[in-house]
Amino acid sequence: MTQRVYIKTVGCQMNVLDSEMVIADLKRHGYTVVDSPEEADCVLYNTCSVREHAEEKVYSALGKIRLSKDKHPEKTIGVMGCMAQKDQELIFKRAPYVDLVVGPGQLHTIPGLLDKVRNGEGRQMAVSLSRKDDKQAVVARSHETFDPLRDPGMRPTPFQAYLRIQIGCDKFCTYCVVPNTRGPEQGRAPQQILSEARVLAEQGCREITLLGQTVNSYKHIADGETTDMSSLLELLHEVDGIDRIKFVTNYPKDMTERLLVTVRDLPKVSPYLHVPAQSGSDEVLKRMKRGYTIADYMEMFERIERILPEAAVSSDFIVGFCGETDEDFEKSVALVERCRFKNSFIFQYSVRPGTKASERFEDDVPREVKAERNHRLLDVQNRIAKEENAKLVGKDVQVLVEGPSKKATDPNAAVVQMTGRTHCDRIVVFDGNLRQAGQLLDVHVDDVSSHTLIGRVKTVDVVTIGL
Ligand code: SAH
Ligand code: SF4
Ligand code: F3S
Repeated sequence: MTQRVYIKTVGCQMNVLDSEMVIADLKRHGYTVVDSPEEADCVLYNTCSVREHAEEKVYSALGKIRLSKDKHPEKTIGVMGCMAQKDQELIFKRAPYVDLVVGPGQLHTIPGLLDKVRNGEGRQMAVSLSRKDDKQAVVARSHETFDPLRDPGMRPTPFQAYLRIQIGCDKFCTYCVVPNTRGPEQGRAPQQILSEARVLAEQGCREITLLGQTVNSYKHIADGETTDMSSLLELLHEVDGIDRIKFVTNYPKDMTERLLVTVRDLPKVSPYLHVPAQSGSDEVLKRMKRGYTIADYMEMFERIERILPEAAVSSDFIVGFCGETDEDFEKSVALVERCRFKNSFIFQYSVRPGTKASERFEDDVPREVKAERNHRLLDVQNRIAKEENAKLVGKDVQVLVEGPSKKATDPNAAVVQMTGRTHCDRIVVFDGNLRQAGQLLDVHVDDVSSHTLIGRVKTVDVVTIGL
């Protein structure tokens, strides 16, 4: 009998990609995808552990699904992703009706384990080794990359795709769970990445976003030959059909002159760099063990300004990290003012068990102070984003059209509000039609907000004339 699967994804782009991969795999095993947990025979949660809130959301969803499981005991419930790797048995303890726990390094086992559950073999768990369990190379092998053939139907748009080039992380910032949940850093083989990019292009994909936790630290060594991020971009640039290449997330220390020159010289590579600073204070950065000072960050930033003056740079900030004083926080505000980021994601520090910060430092910034700093920094960032966007009013930008915007009430109307992104990753909305999805169009910018450019298409779409 065909099994109906529902998947709920939280967390970063890695998780979005993992869910796409798992669903493609399950479809090959005869599953069909449904839109609600109620209609599903199998409910999967792809989870994130980066902040406590992300975990609580999943535990509360599990609490709700329990009623449904009570009524339909044959329904299988699975928890996959970073929280599965981090909590392991604890998930069965907190939610005993869960059938399956699978870490991000074991995703290929899901179809087989689901069969076992249905065959009455009881709860199943597949997780990777922990960092302390064995030597780095052995632990790394237990975190397998899972990048099987794709199913273009599963992507948010057929013209855009994520492509994993690196798994894991070895930076061990003191606040962060990712080096534990995703394991040691491993660069995937360039030939494998290249062949996946070619398949994506054949499927009609025009934009690929390369994924890694510190994507610009990418390195692959085989037969004495080293491929770094610049060489990889050069290889990918040759793939016919791919018009845009983006990559996230960058680590400030590895933003080399060579990489920036490569980005400048390869027209398909977007002049968009997400390089999180995390804090504007050297004392805080030191406690975070980020491996750079603000002087280092500024040196990197000035290198970007010199080589790629048109580039859009974005950042992440954590506010309320252990010991962050008002003075430290003001330095983060000053950094946003100085760098004038395109956007910043701002997070309130959340203690993560198992991290160095949780063992060494006290989470001493009160909740209200964290919330206040979050608002304040976001206000400054939003004002700057709007001012920077305003510089584009009256100019033309090239947009890869993604589809109708969230505000498009009737997607079948003659004129539909469409949305897409510029080469430097700015969101653009304009009046158009569904046929424009997947096209690269020149849009004239008339107005802006902090997060959006509002424009109109320059070249009149011939088909719409006379309608
Ligand atoms: N590898 C990426 C991002 C990883 S997680 C990088 O290094 O930039 C995404 C963001 O979540 C981080 O950039 C950081 O700003 C935030 N984050 C990570 N751990 C956190 C924690 N314990 N509390 C609050 N925010 C956190
Ligand atoms: Fe976490 Fe730091 Fe690695 Fe980013 S670089 S994933 S913040 S440990
Ligand atoms: Fe979350 Fe794991 Fe991504 S912890 S941010 S889903 S790597």
